[in-house]
Amino acid sequence: MRLENRTAIVTGAASGIGRAIARRFAKEGASVIVSDIVEAPIWAPSNDDLPTTETIENEGGKAEFVQTDVSSWNSVDALVSGAVDKYGRLDVMVNSAAVFEAANILETTEEDWDTLMDVNLRGQFLCCKRAIMQMMEQELIDEVRGRIINLSSQHGMIGPPDYLAYAVSKAGVAQMTRQLAVDYARHGIMVNAVAPGRIITGTHPGEPDMTDPDLPYSRSRTPFPRLGRPEDIAGAALYLASDDCTYVSGHNLLVDGGWMAY
Ligand SMILES: NC(=O)c1ccc[n+]([C@@H]2O[C@H](COP(=O)([O-])OP(=O)(O)OC[C@H]3O[C@@H](n4cnc5c(N)ncnc54)[C@H](O)[C@@H]3O)[C@@H](O)[C@H]2O)c1
Repeated sequence: MRLENRTAIVTGAASGIGRAIARRFAKEGASVIVSDIVEAPIWAPSNDDLPTTETIENEGGKAEFVQTDVSSWNSVDALVSGAVDKYGRLDVMVNSAAVFEAANILETTEEDWDTLMDVNLRGQFLCCKRAIMQMMEQELIDEVRGRIINLSSQHGMIGPPDYLAYAVSKAGVAQMTRQLAVDYARHGIMVNAVAPGRIITGTHPGEPDMTDPDLPYSRSRTPFPRLGRPEDIAGAALYLASDDCTYVSGHNLLVDGGWMAY
C-alpha cells in the first residue's frame, strides 16, 4: 500500500499505459481519478475490456471516471477542481493522454500537426499548470507538496523515421519536464517523465496487428526478449509517485527493454 491516503489523477486512463498506471496506483491504496475523453478502453484484451473504474472496483480499489479533454483548459480545470473538492488534495498527477501519428513532414497536414500538438503538448502543459496551481496551495508532506509524472517517449530522444509531429511533441514533453522540475523543486514539487520504448497497447486502432512490419523492427531493436507491457510502465510510474522517490526530479526515465542502449 505504497500510495495509501494519496489522491492521483491519471489522464488517458481509459486505455493502455494510463489504464495500467491507474490500476497499479489503486492496488497500492490511492484514490484514483480516471480521466479520459472516452470511458471505454479504445483497446484492451478481450477478457479484460471493462471501463477502468469497473476493473479497479472489481480489484478492490477506489476510482471514479471524469470525462476530460486535456486540450481544453476548462475541462482540465474542472478535473482538478473536482478531485480537490472531493479528496482535499492532489498528490500525484500523471499525464498519459496522447494521440499518435506516424508520418513524415510531407504527409503531415497543418491540421494533423495542430491536433497532435493540442493533445500531446498543450494537453500536458495545461495539466501540469493546473496541477502546480493546486500543489502550490497544499501543505508539504515529508518535504513533498506533489508529484507530476509525464509520459514522454524514446521517440522524443532520437529522430525515429517518419514520426515527425509525434517525436517533436514528446521532445517537448521531456523539455517541459526538466523546466518545471527546476522551477518548482524549491517548492517541493517533483516533476519527472517516463519514456517508454515499444509497449504493446492500443496506440494503433484496433487489436495490435502482429503482422505490422513495425513490430519485428521494434523487436529486433529491443535487447529484452519481448516488447514492453503497460505494466512495465506502471511499475516505473509507481516508483516516481511513491515515497521511495525522494531526490529525483527532472528525470526522463527510459523504460524500453534496453532499446536506447543498443
Ligand atoms: N505504447 C507505446 O509504445 C508508447 C511508447 C512511447 C510513449 N508512449 C506514450 O505513453 C502514453 C500512453 O500511450 P498508450 O500507448 O497507452 O496510448 P493509448 O492510445 O492506448 O491511450 C491513450 C489514451 O489517451 C486518450 N486521449 C486521447 N486524446 C485525449 C484527450 N484529448 N483528452 C483526454 N484523453 C485523451 C485516449 O482516449 C486513450 O485512452 C502516451 O503519452 C504515449 O505517447 C506510448
